[in-house]
Amino acid sequence: LWLAVGIRRRQPGEPAVENGFIPYLGCALQFGANPLQFLHSRQKKYGHIFTCKIAGQYIHFLCDPFSYHSVIRQGRHLDWRKFHFATSVKAFGHDSFDPRHGHTTENLHQTFLKTLQGEALPSLIETMMGHLQDVMLRSDTLSPSKDHWEVMFESGYLTLFGKEFGEDKSQARQAAQKALIFNALENFKEFDKIFPALVAGLPIHVFKSAYSARENLAKTMHADNLSKRENMSDLISMRMILNDSLSTFNDLSKARTHVALLWASQANTLPATFWSLFYMIRSPDALKAAHEEVQKIVKDSGLIVDANDPTLKLSREHFTTIVIYIIKEAMRLSSASMNVRVAKEDFLLHLDNQEAYRIRKDDVIALYPPMLHYDPEIYEDPFEYKYDRFLDEMGQEKSTFYHNGRRLRYFYMPFGSGVTKCPGRFFAVYEIKQFLSLVLSYFDMELLDPAIKVPPLDQSRAGLGILQPTYDVDFRYKLKAGI
Ligand code: HEM
Repeated sequence: LWLAVGIRRRQPGEPAVENGFIPYLGCALQFGANPLQFLHSRQKKYGHIFTCKIAGQYIHFLCDPFSYHSVIRQGRHLDWRKFHFATSVKAFGHDSFDPRHGHTTENLHQTFLKTLQGEALPSLIETMMGHLQDVMLRSDTLSPSKDHWEVMFESGYLTLFGKEFGEDKSQARQAAQKALIFNALENFKEFDKIFPALVAGLPIHVFKSAYSARENLAKTMHADNLSKRENMSDLISMRMILNDSLSTFNDLSKARTHVALLWASQANTLPATFWSLFYMIRSPDALKAAHEEVQKIVKDSGLIVDANDPTLKLSREHFTTIVIYIIKEAMRLSSASMNVRVAKEDFLLHLDNQEAYRIRKDDVIALYPPMLHYDPEIYEDPFEYKYDRFLDEMGQEKSTFYHNGRRLRYFYMPFGSGVTKCPGRFFAVYEIKQFLSLVLSYFDMELLDPAIKVPPLDQSRAGLGILQPTYDVDFRYKLKAGI
């Protein structure tokens, strides 16, 4: 009977298990309502590890940071590809990237590392800098009816996918390019809304408008359309070549792989930019420190801030330290990415306290870093934004954090961990640094309501990355005098 209704009984040596009250969903609703509270209450009851059924899947939550390493170090019992590739297929509808499924021999992980890091990074940063200034100052995007979400989306989109070329530089042509990106943003938002439901296993056909939004995006990313674009990033141009040479994907599947990358490059960056800007402006000390630092760098480097010729060339060495910590702290408070591995076989998971637990083949093991990010033992007053939290007395990055008197190896994980760590993380942080530095250089900015409360996090996306605010916040900005 237990099996018939899909309920698991705990076997000797296994973590405690909660099946929840609702068939299939299990504990999904309780988890979704307040993940942190849910996990804390189970941790109190069961200890360092316990199992919950969530949307048909048994997930072992590991809550002891000193045991994280046994999952992150990618032992022979754990697989990351299975979950990641399957999630991407579910959400974006392309054929599988898992080499074991025989549709492609591309090593996607290598493609990402080659095209987003190391030698590929400087040109990404330089291109982004140009687009950001064009979008902020050469177009009407930063008019009061438009906002920073659009600035970042447009600049990031152009940096990855390039601009449609052609001799025609007429206003009509420019307007058509703008319209393409505006539509892409609308489609992106429509699709992004239901992303958590897709990850949970609901079929996209249930969501008619999100489905057509995704397919509209895919249409713009057909090879015929992409080949009309110039200054494309290495990431997209290399992926086009590898799709053609190493895969048996059809044209639609190929286009959908590019939609997946558009999503990966924007879905976290946009809310992370919002929170960084919001907290920076809301914290007078942070704003003052960042402003002074950016001004000093511009002056010392002999750069000119000129709104009529917005070509400020802040390069990698110019990015201020304060801004980095402002972003880091904003992401501590807003990130909720679950780190997941799948058991390849039955095995014993050894914890730091010498306990060992039996894990069954195909079970999922999850780490939920907000448990660290909000732990008062690790971060004093964890719900407070302190812009200099990651700075030590010497003005260097602080990297010693403790739990139970022991130094932690893992205390900050908005980008995931180990082999599945976000390959775009260096670029992502640069993008936000660039955006904030440009805002500080060109604009005077304030909150429309200086006393506004921090908007609550939208928990419907818990587990999937940087959470969005439940409502947007209005900023007021004007060009600085005399530039
Ligand atoms: C994967 C976070 C920006 C490209 C991921 C993952 C996280 C993450 C948590 C999954 C890691 C895991 O499953 O353990 C973030 C955050 C960002 C950001 C917080 C911004 C603040 C970007 C950008 C790009 C990018 C700008 C590309 C331009 C990717 C790709 C993957 C990924 C391609 C999939 C990697 C794989 O499955 O091998 N990101 N990301 N990300 N991210 Fe990011």
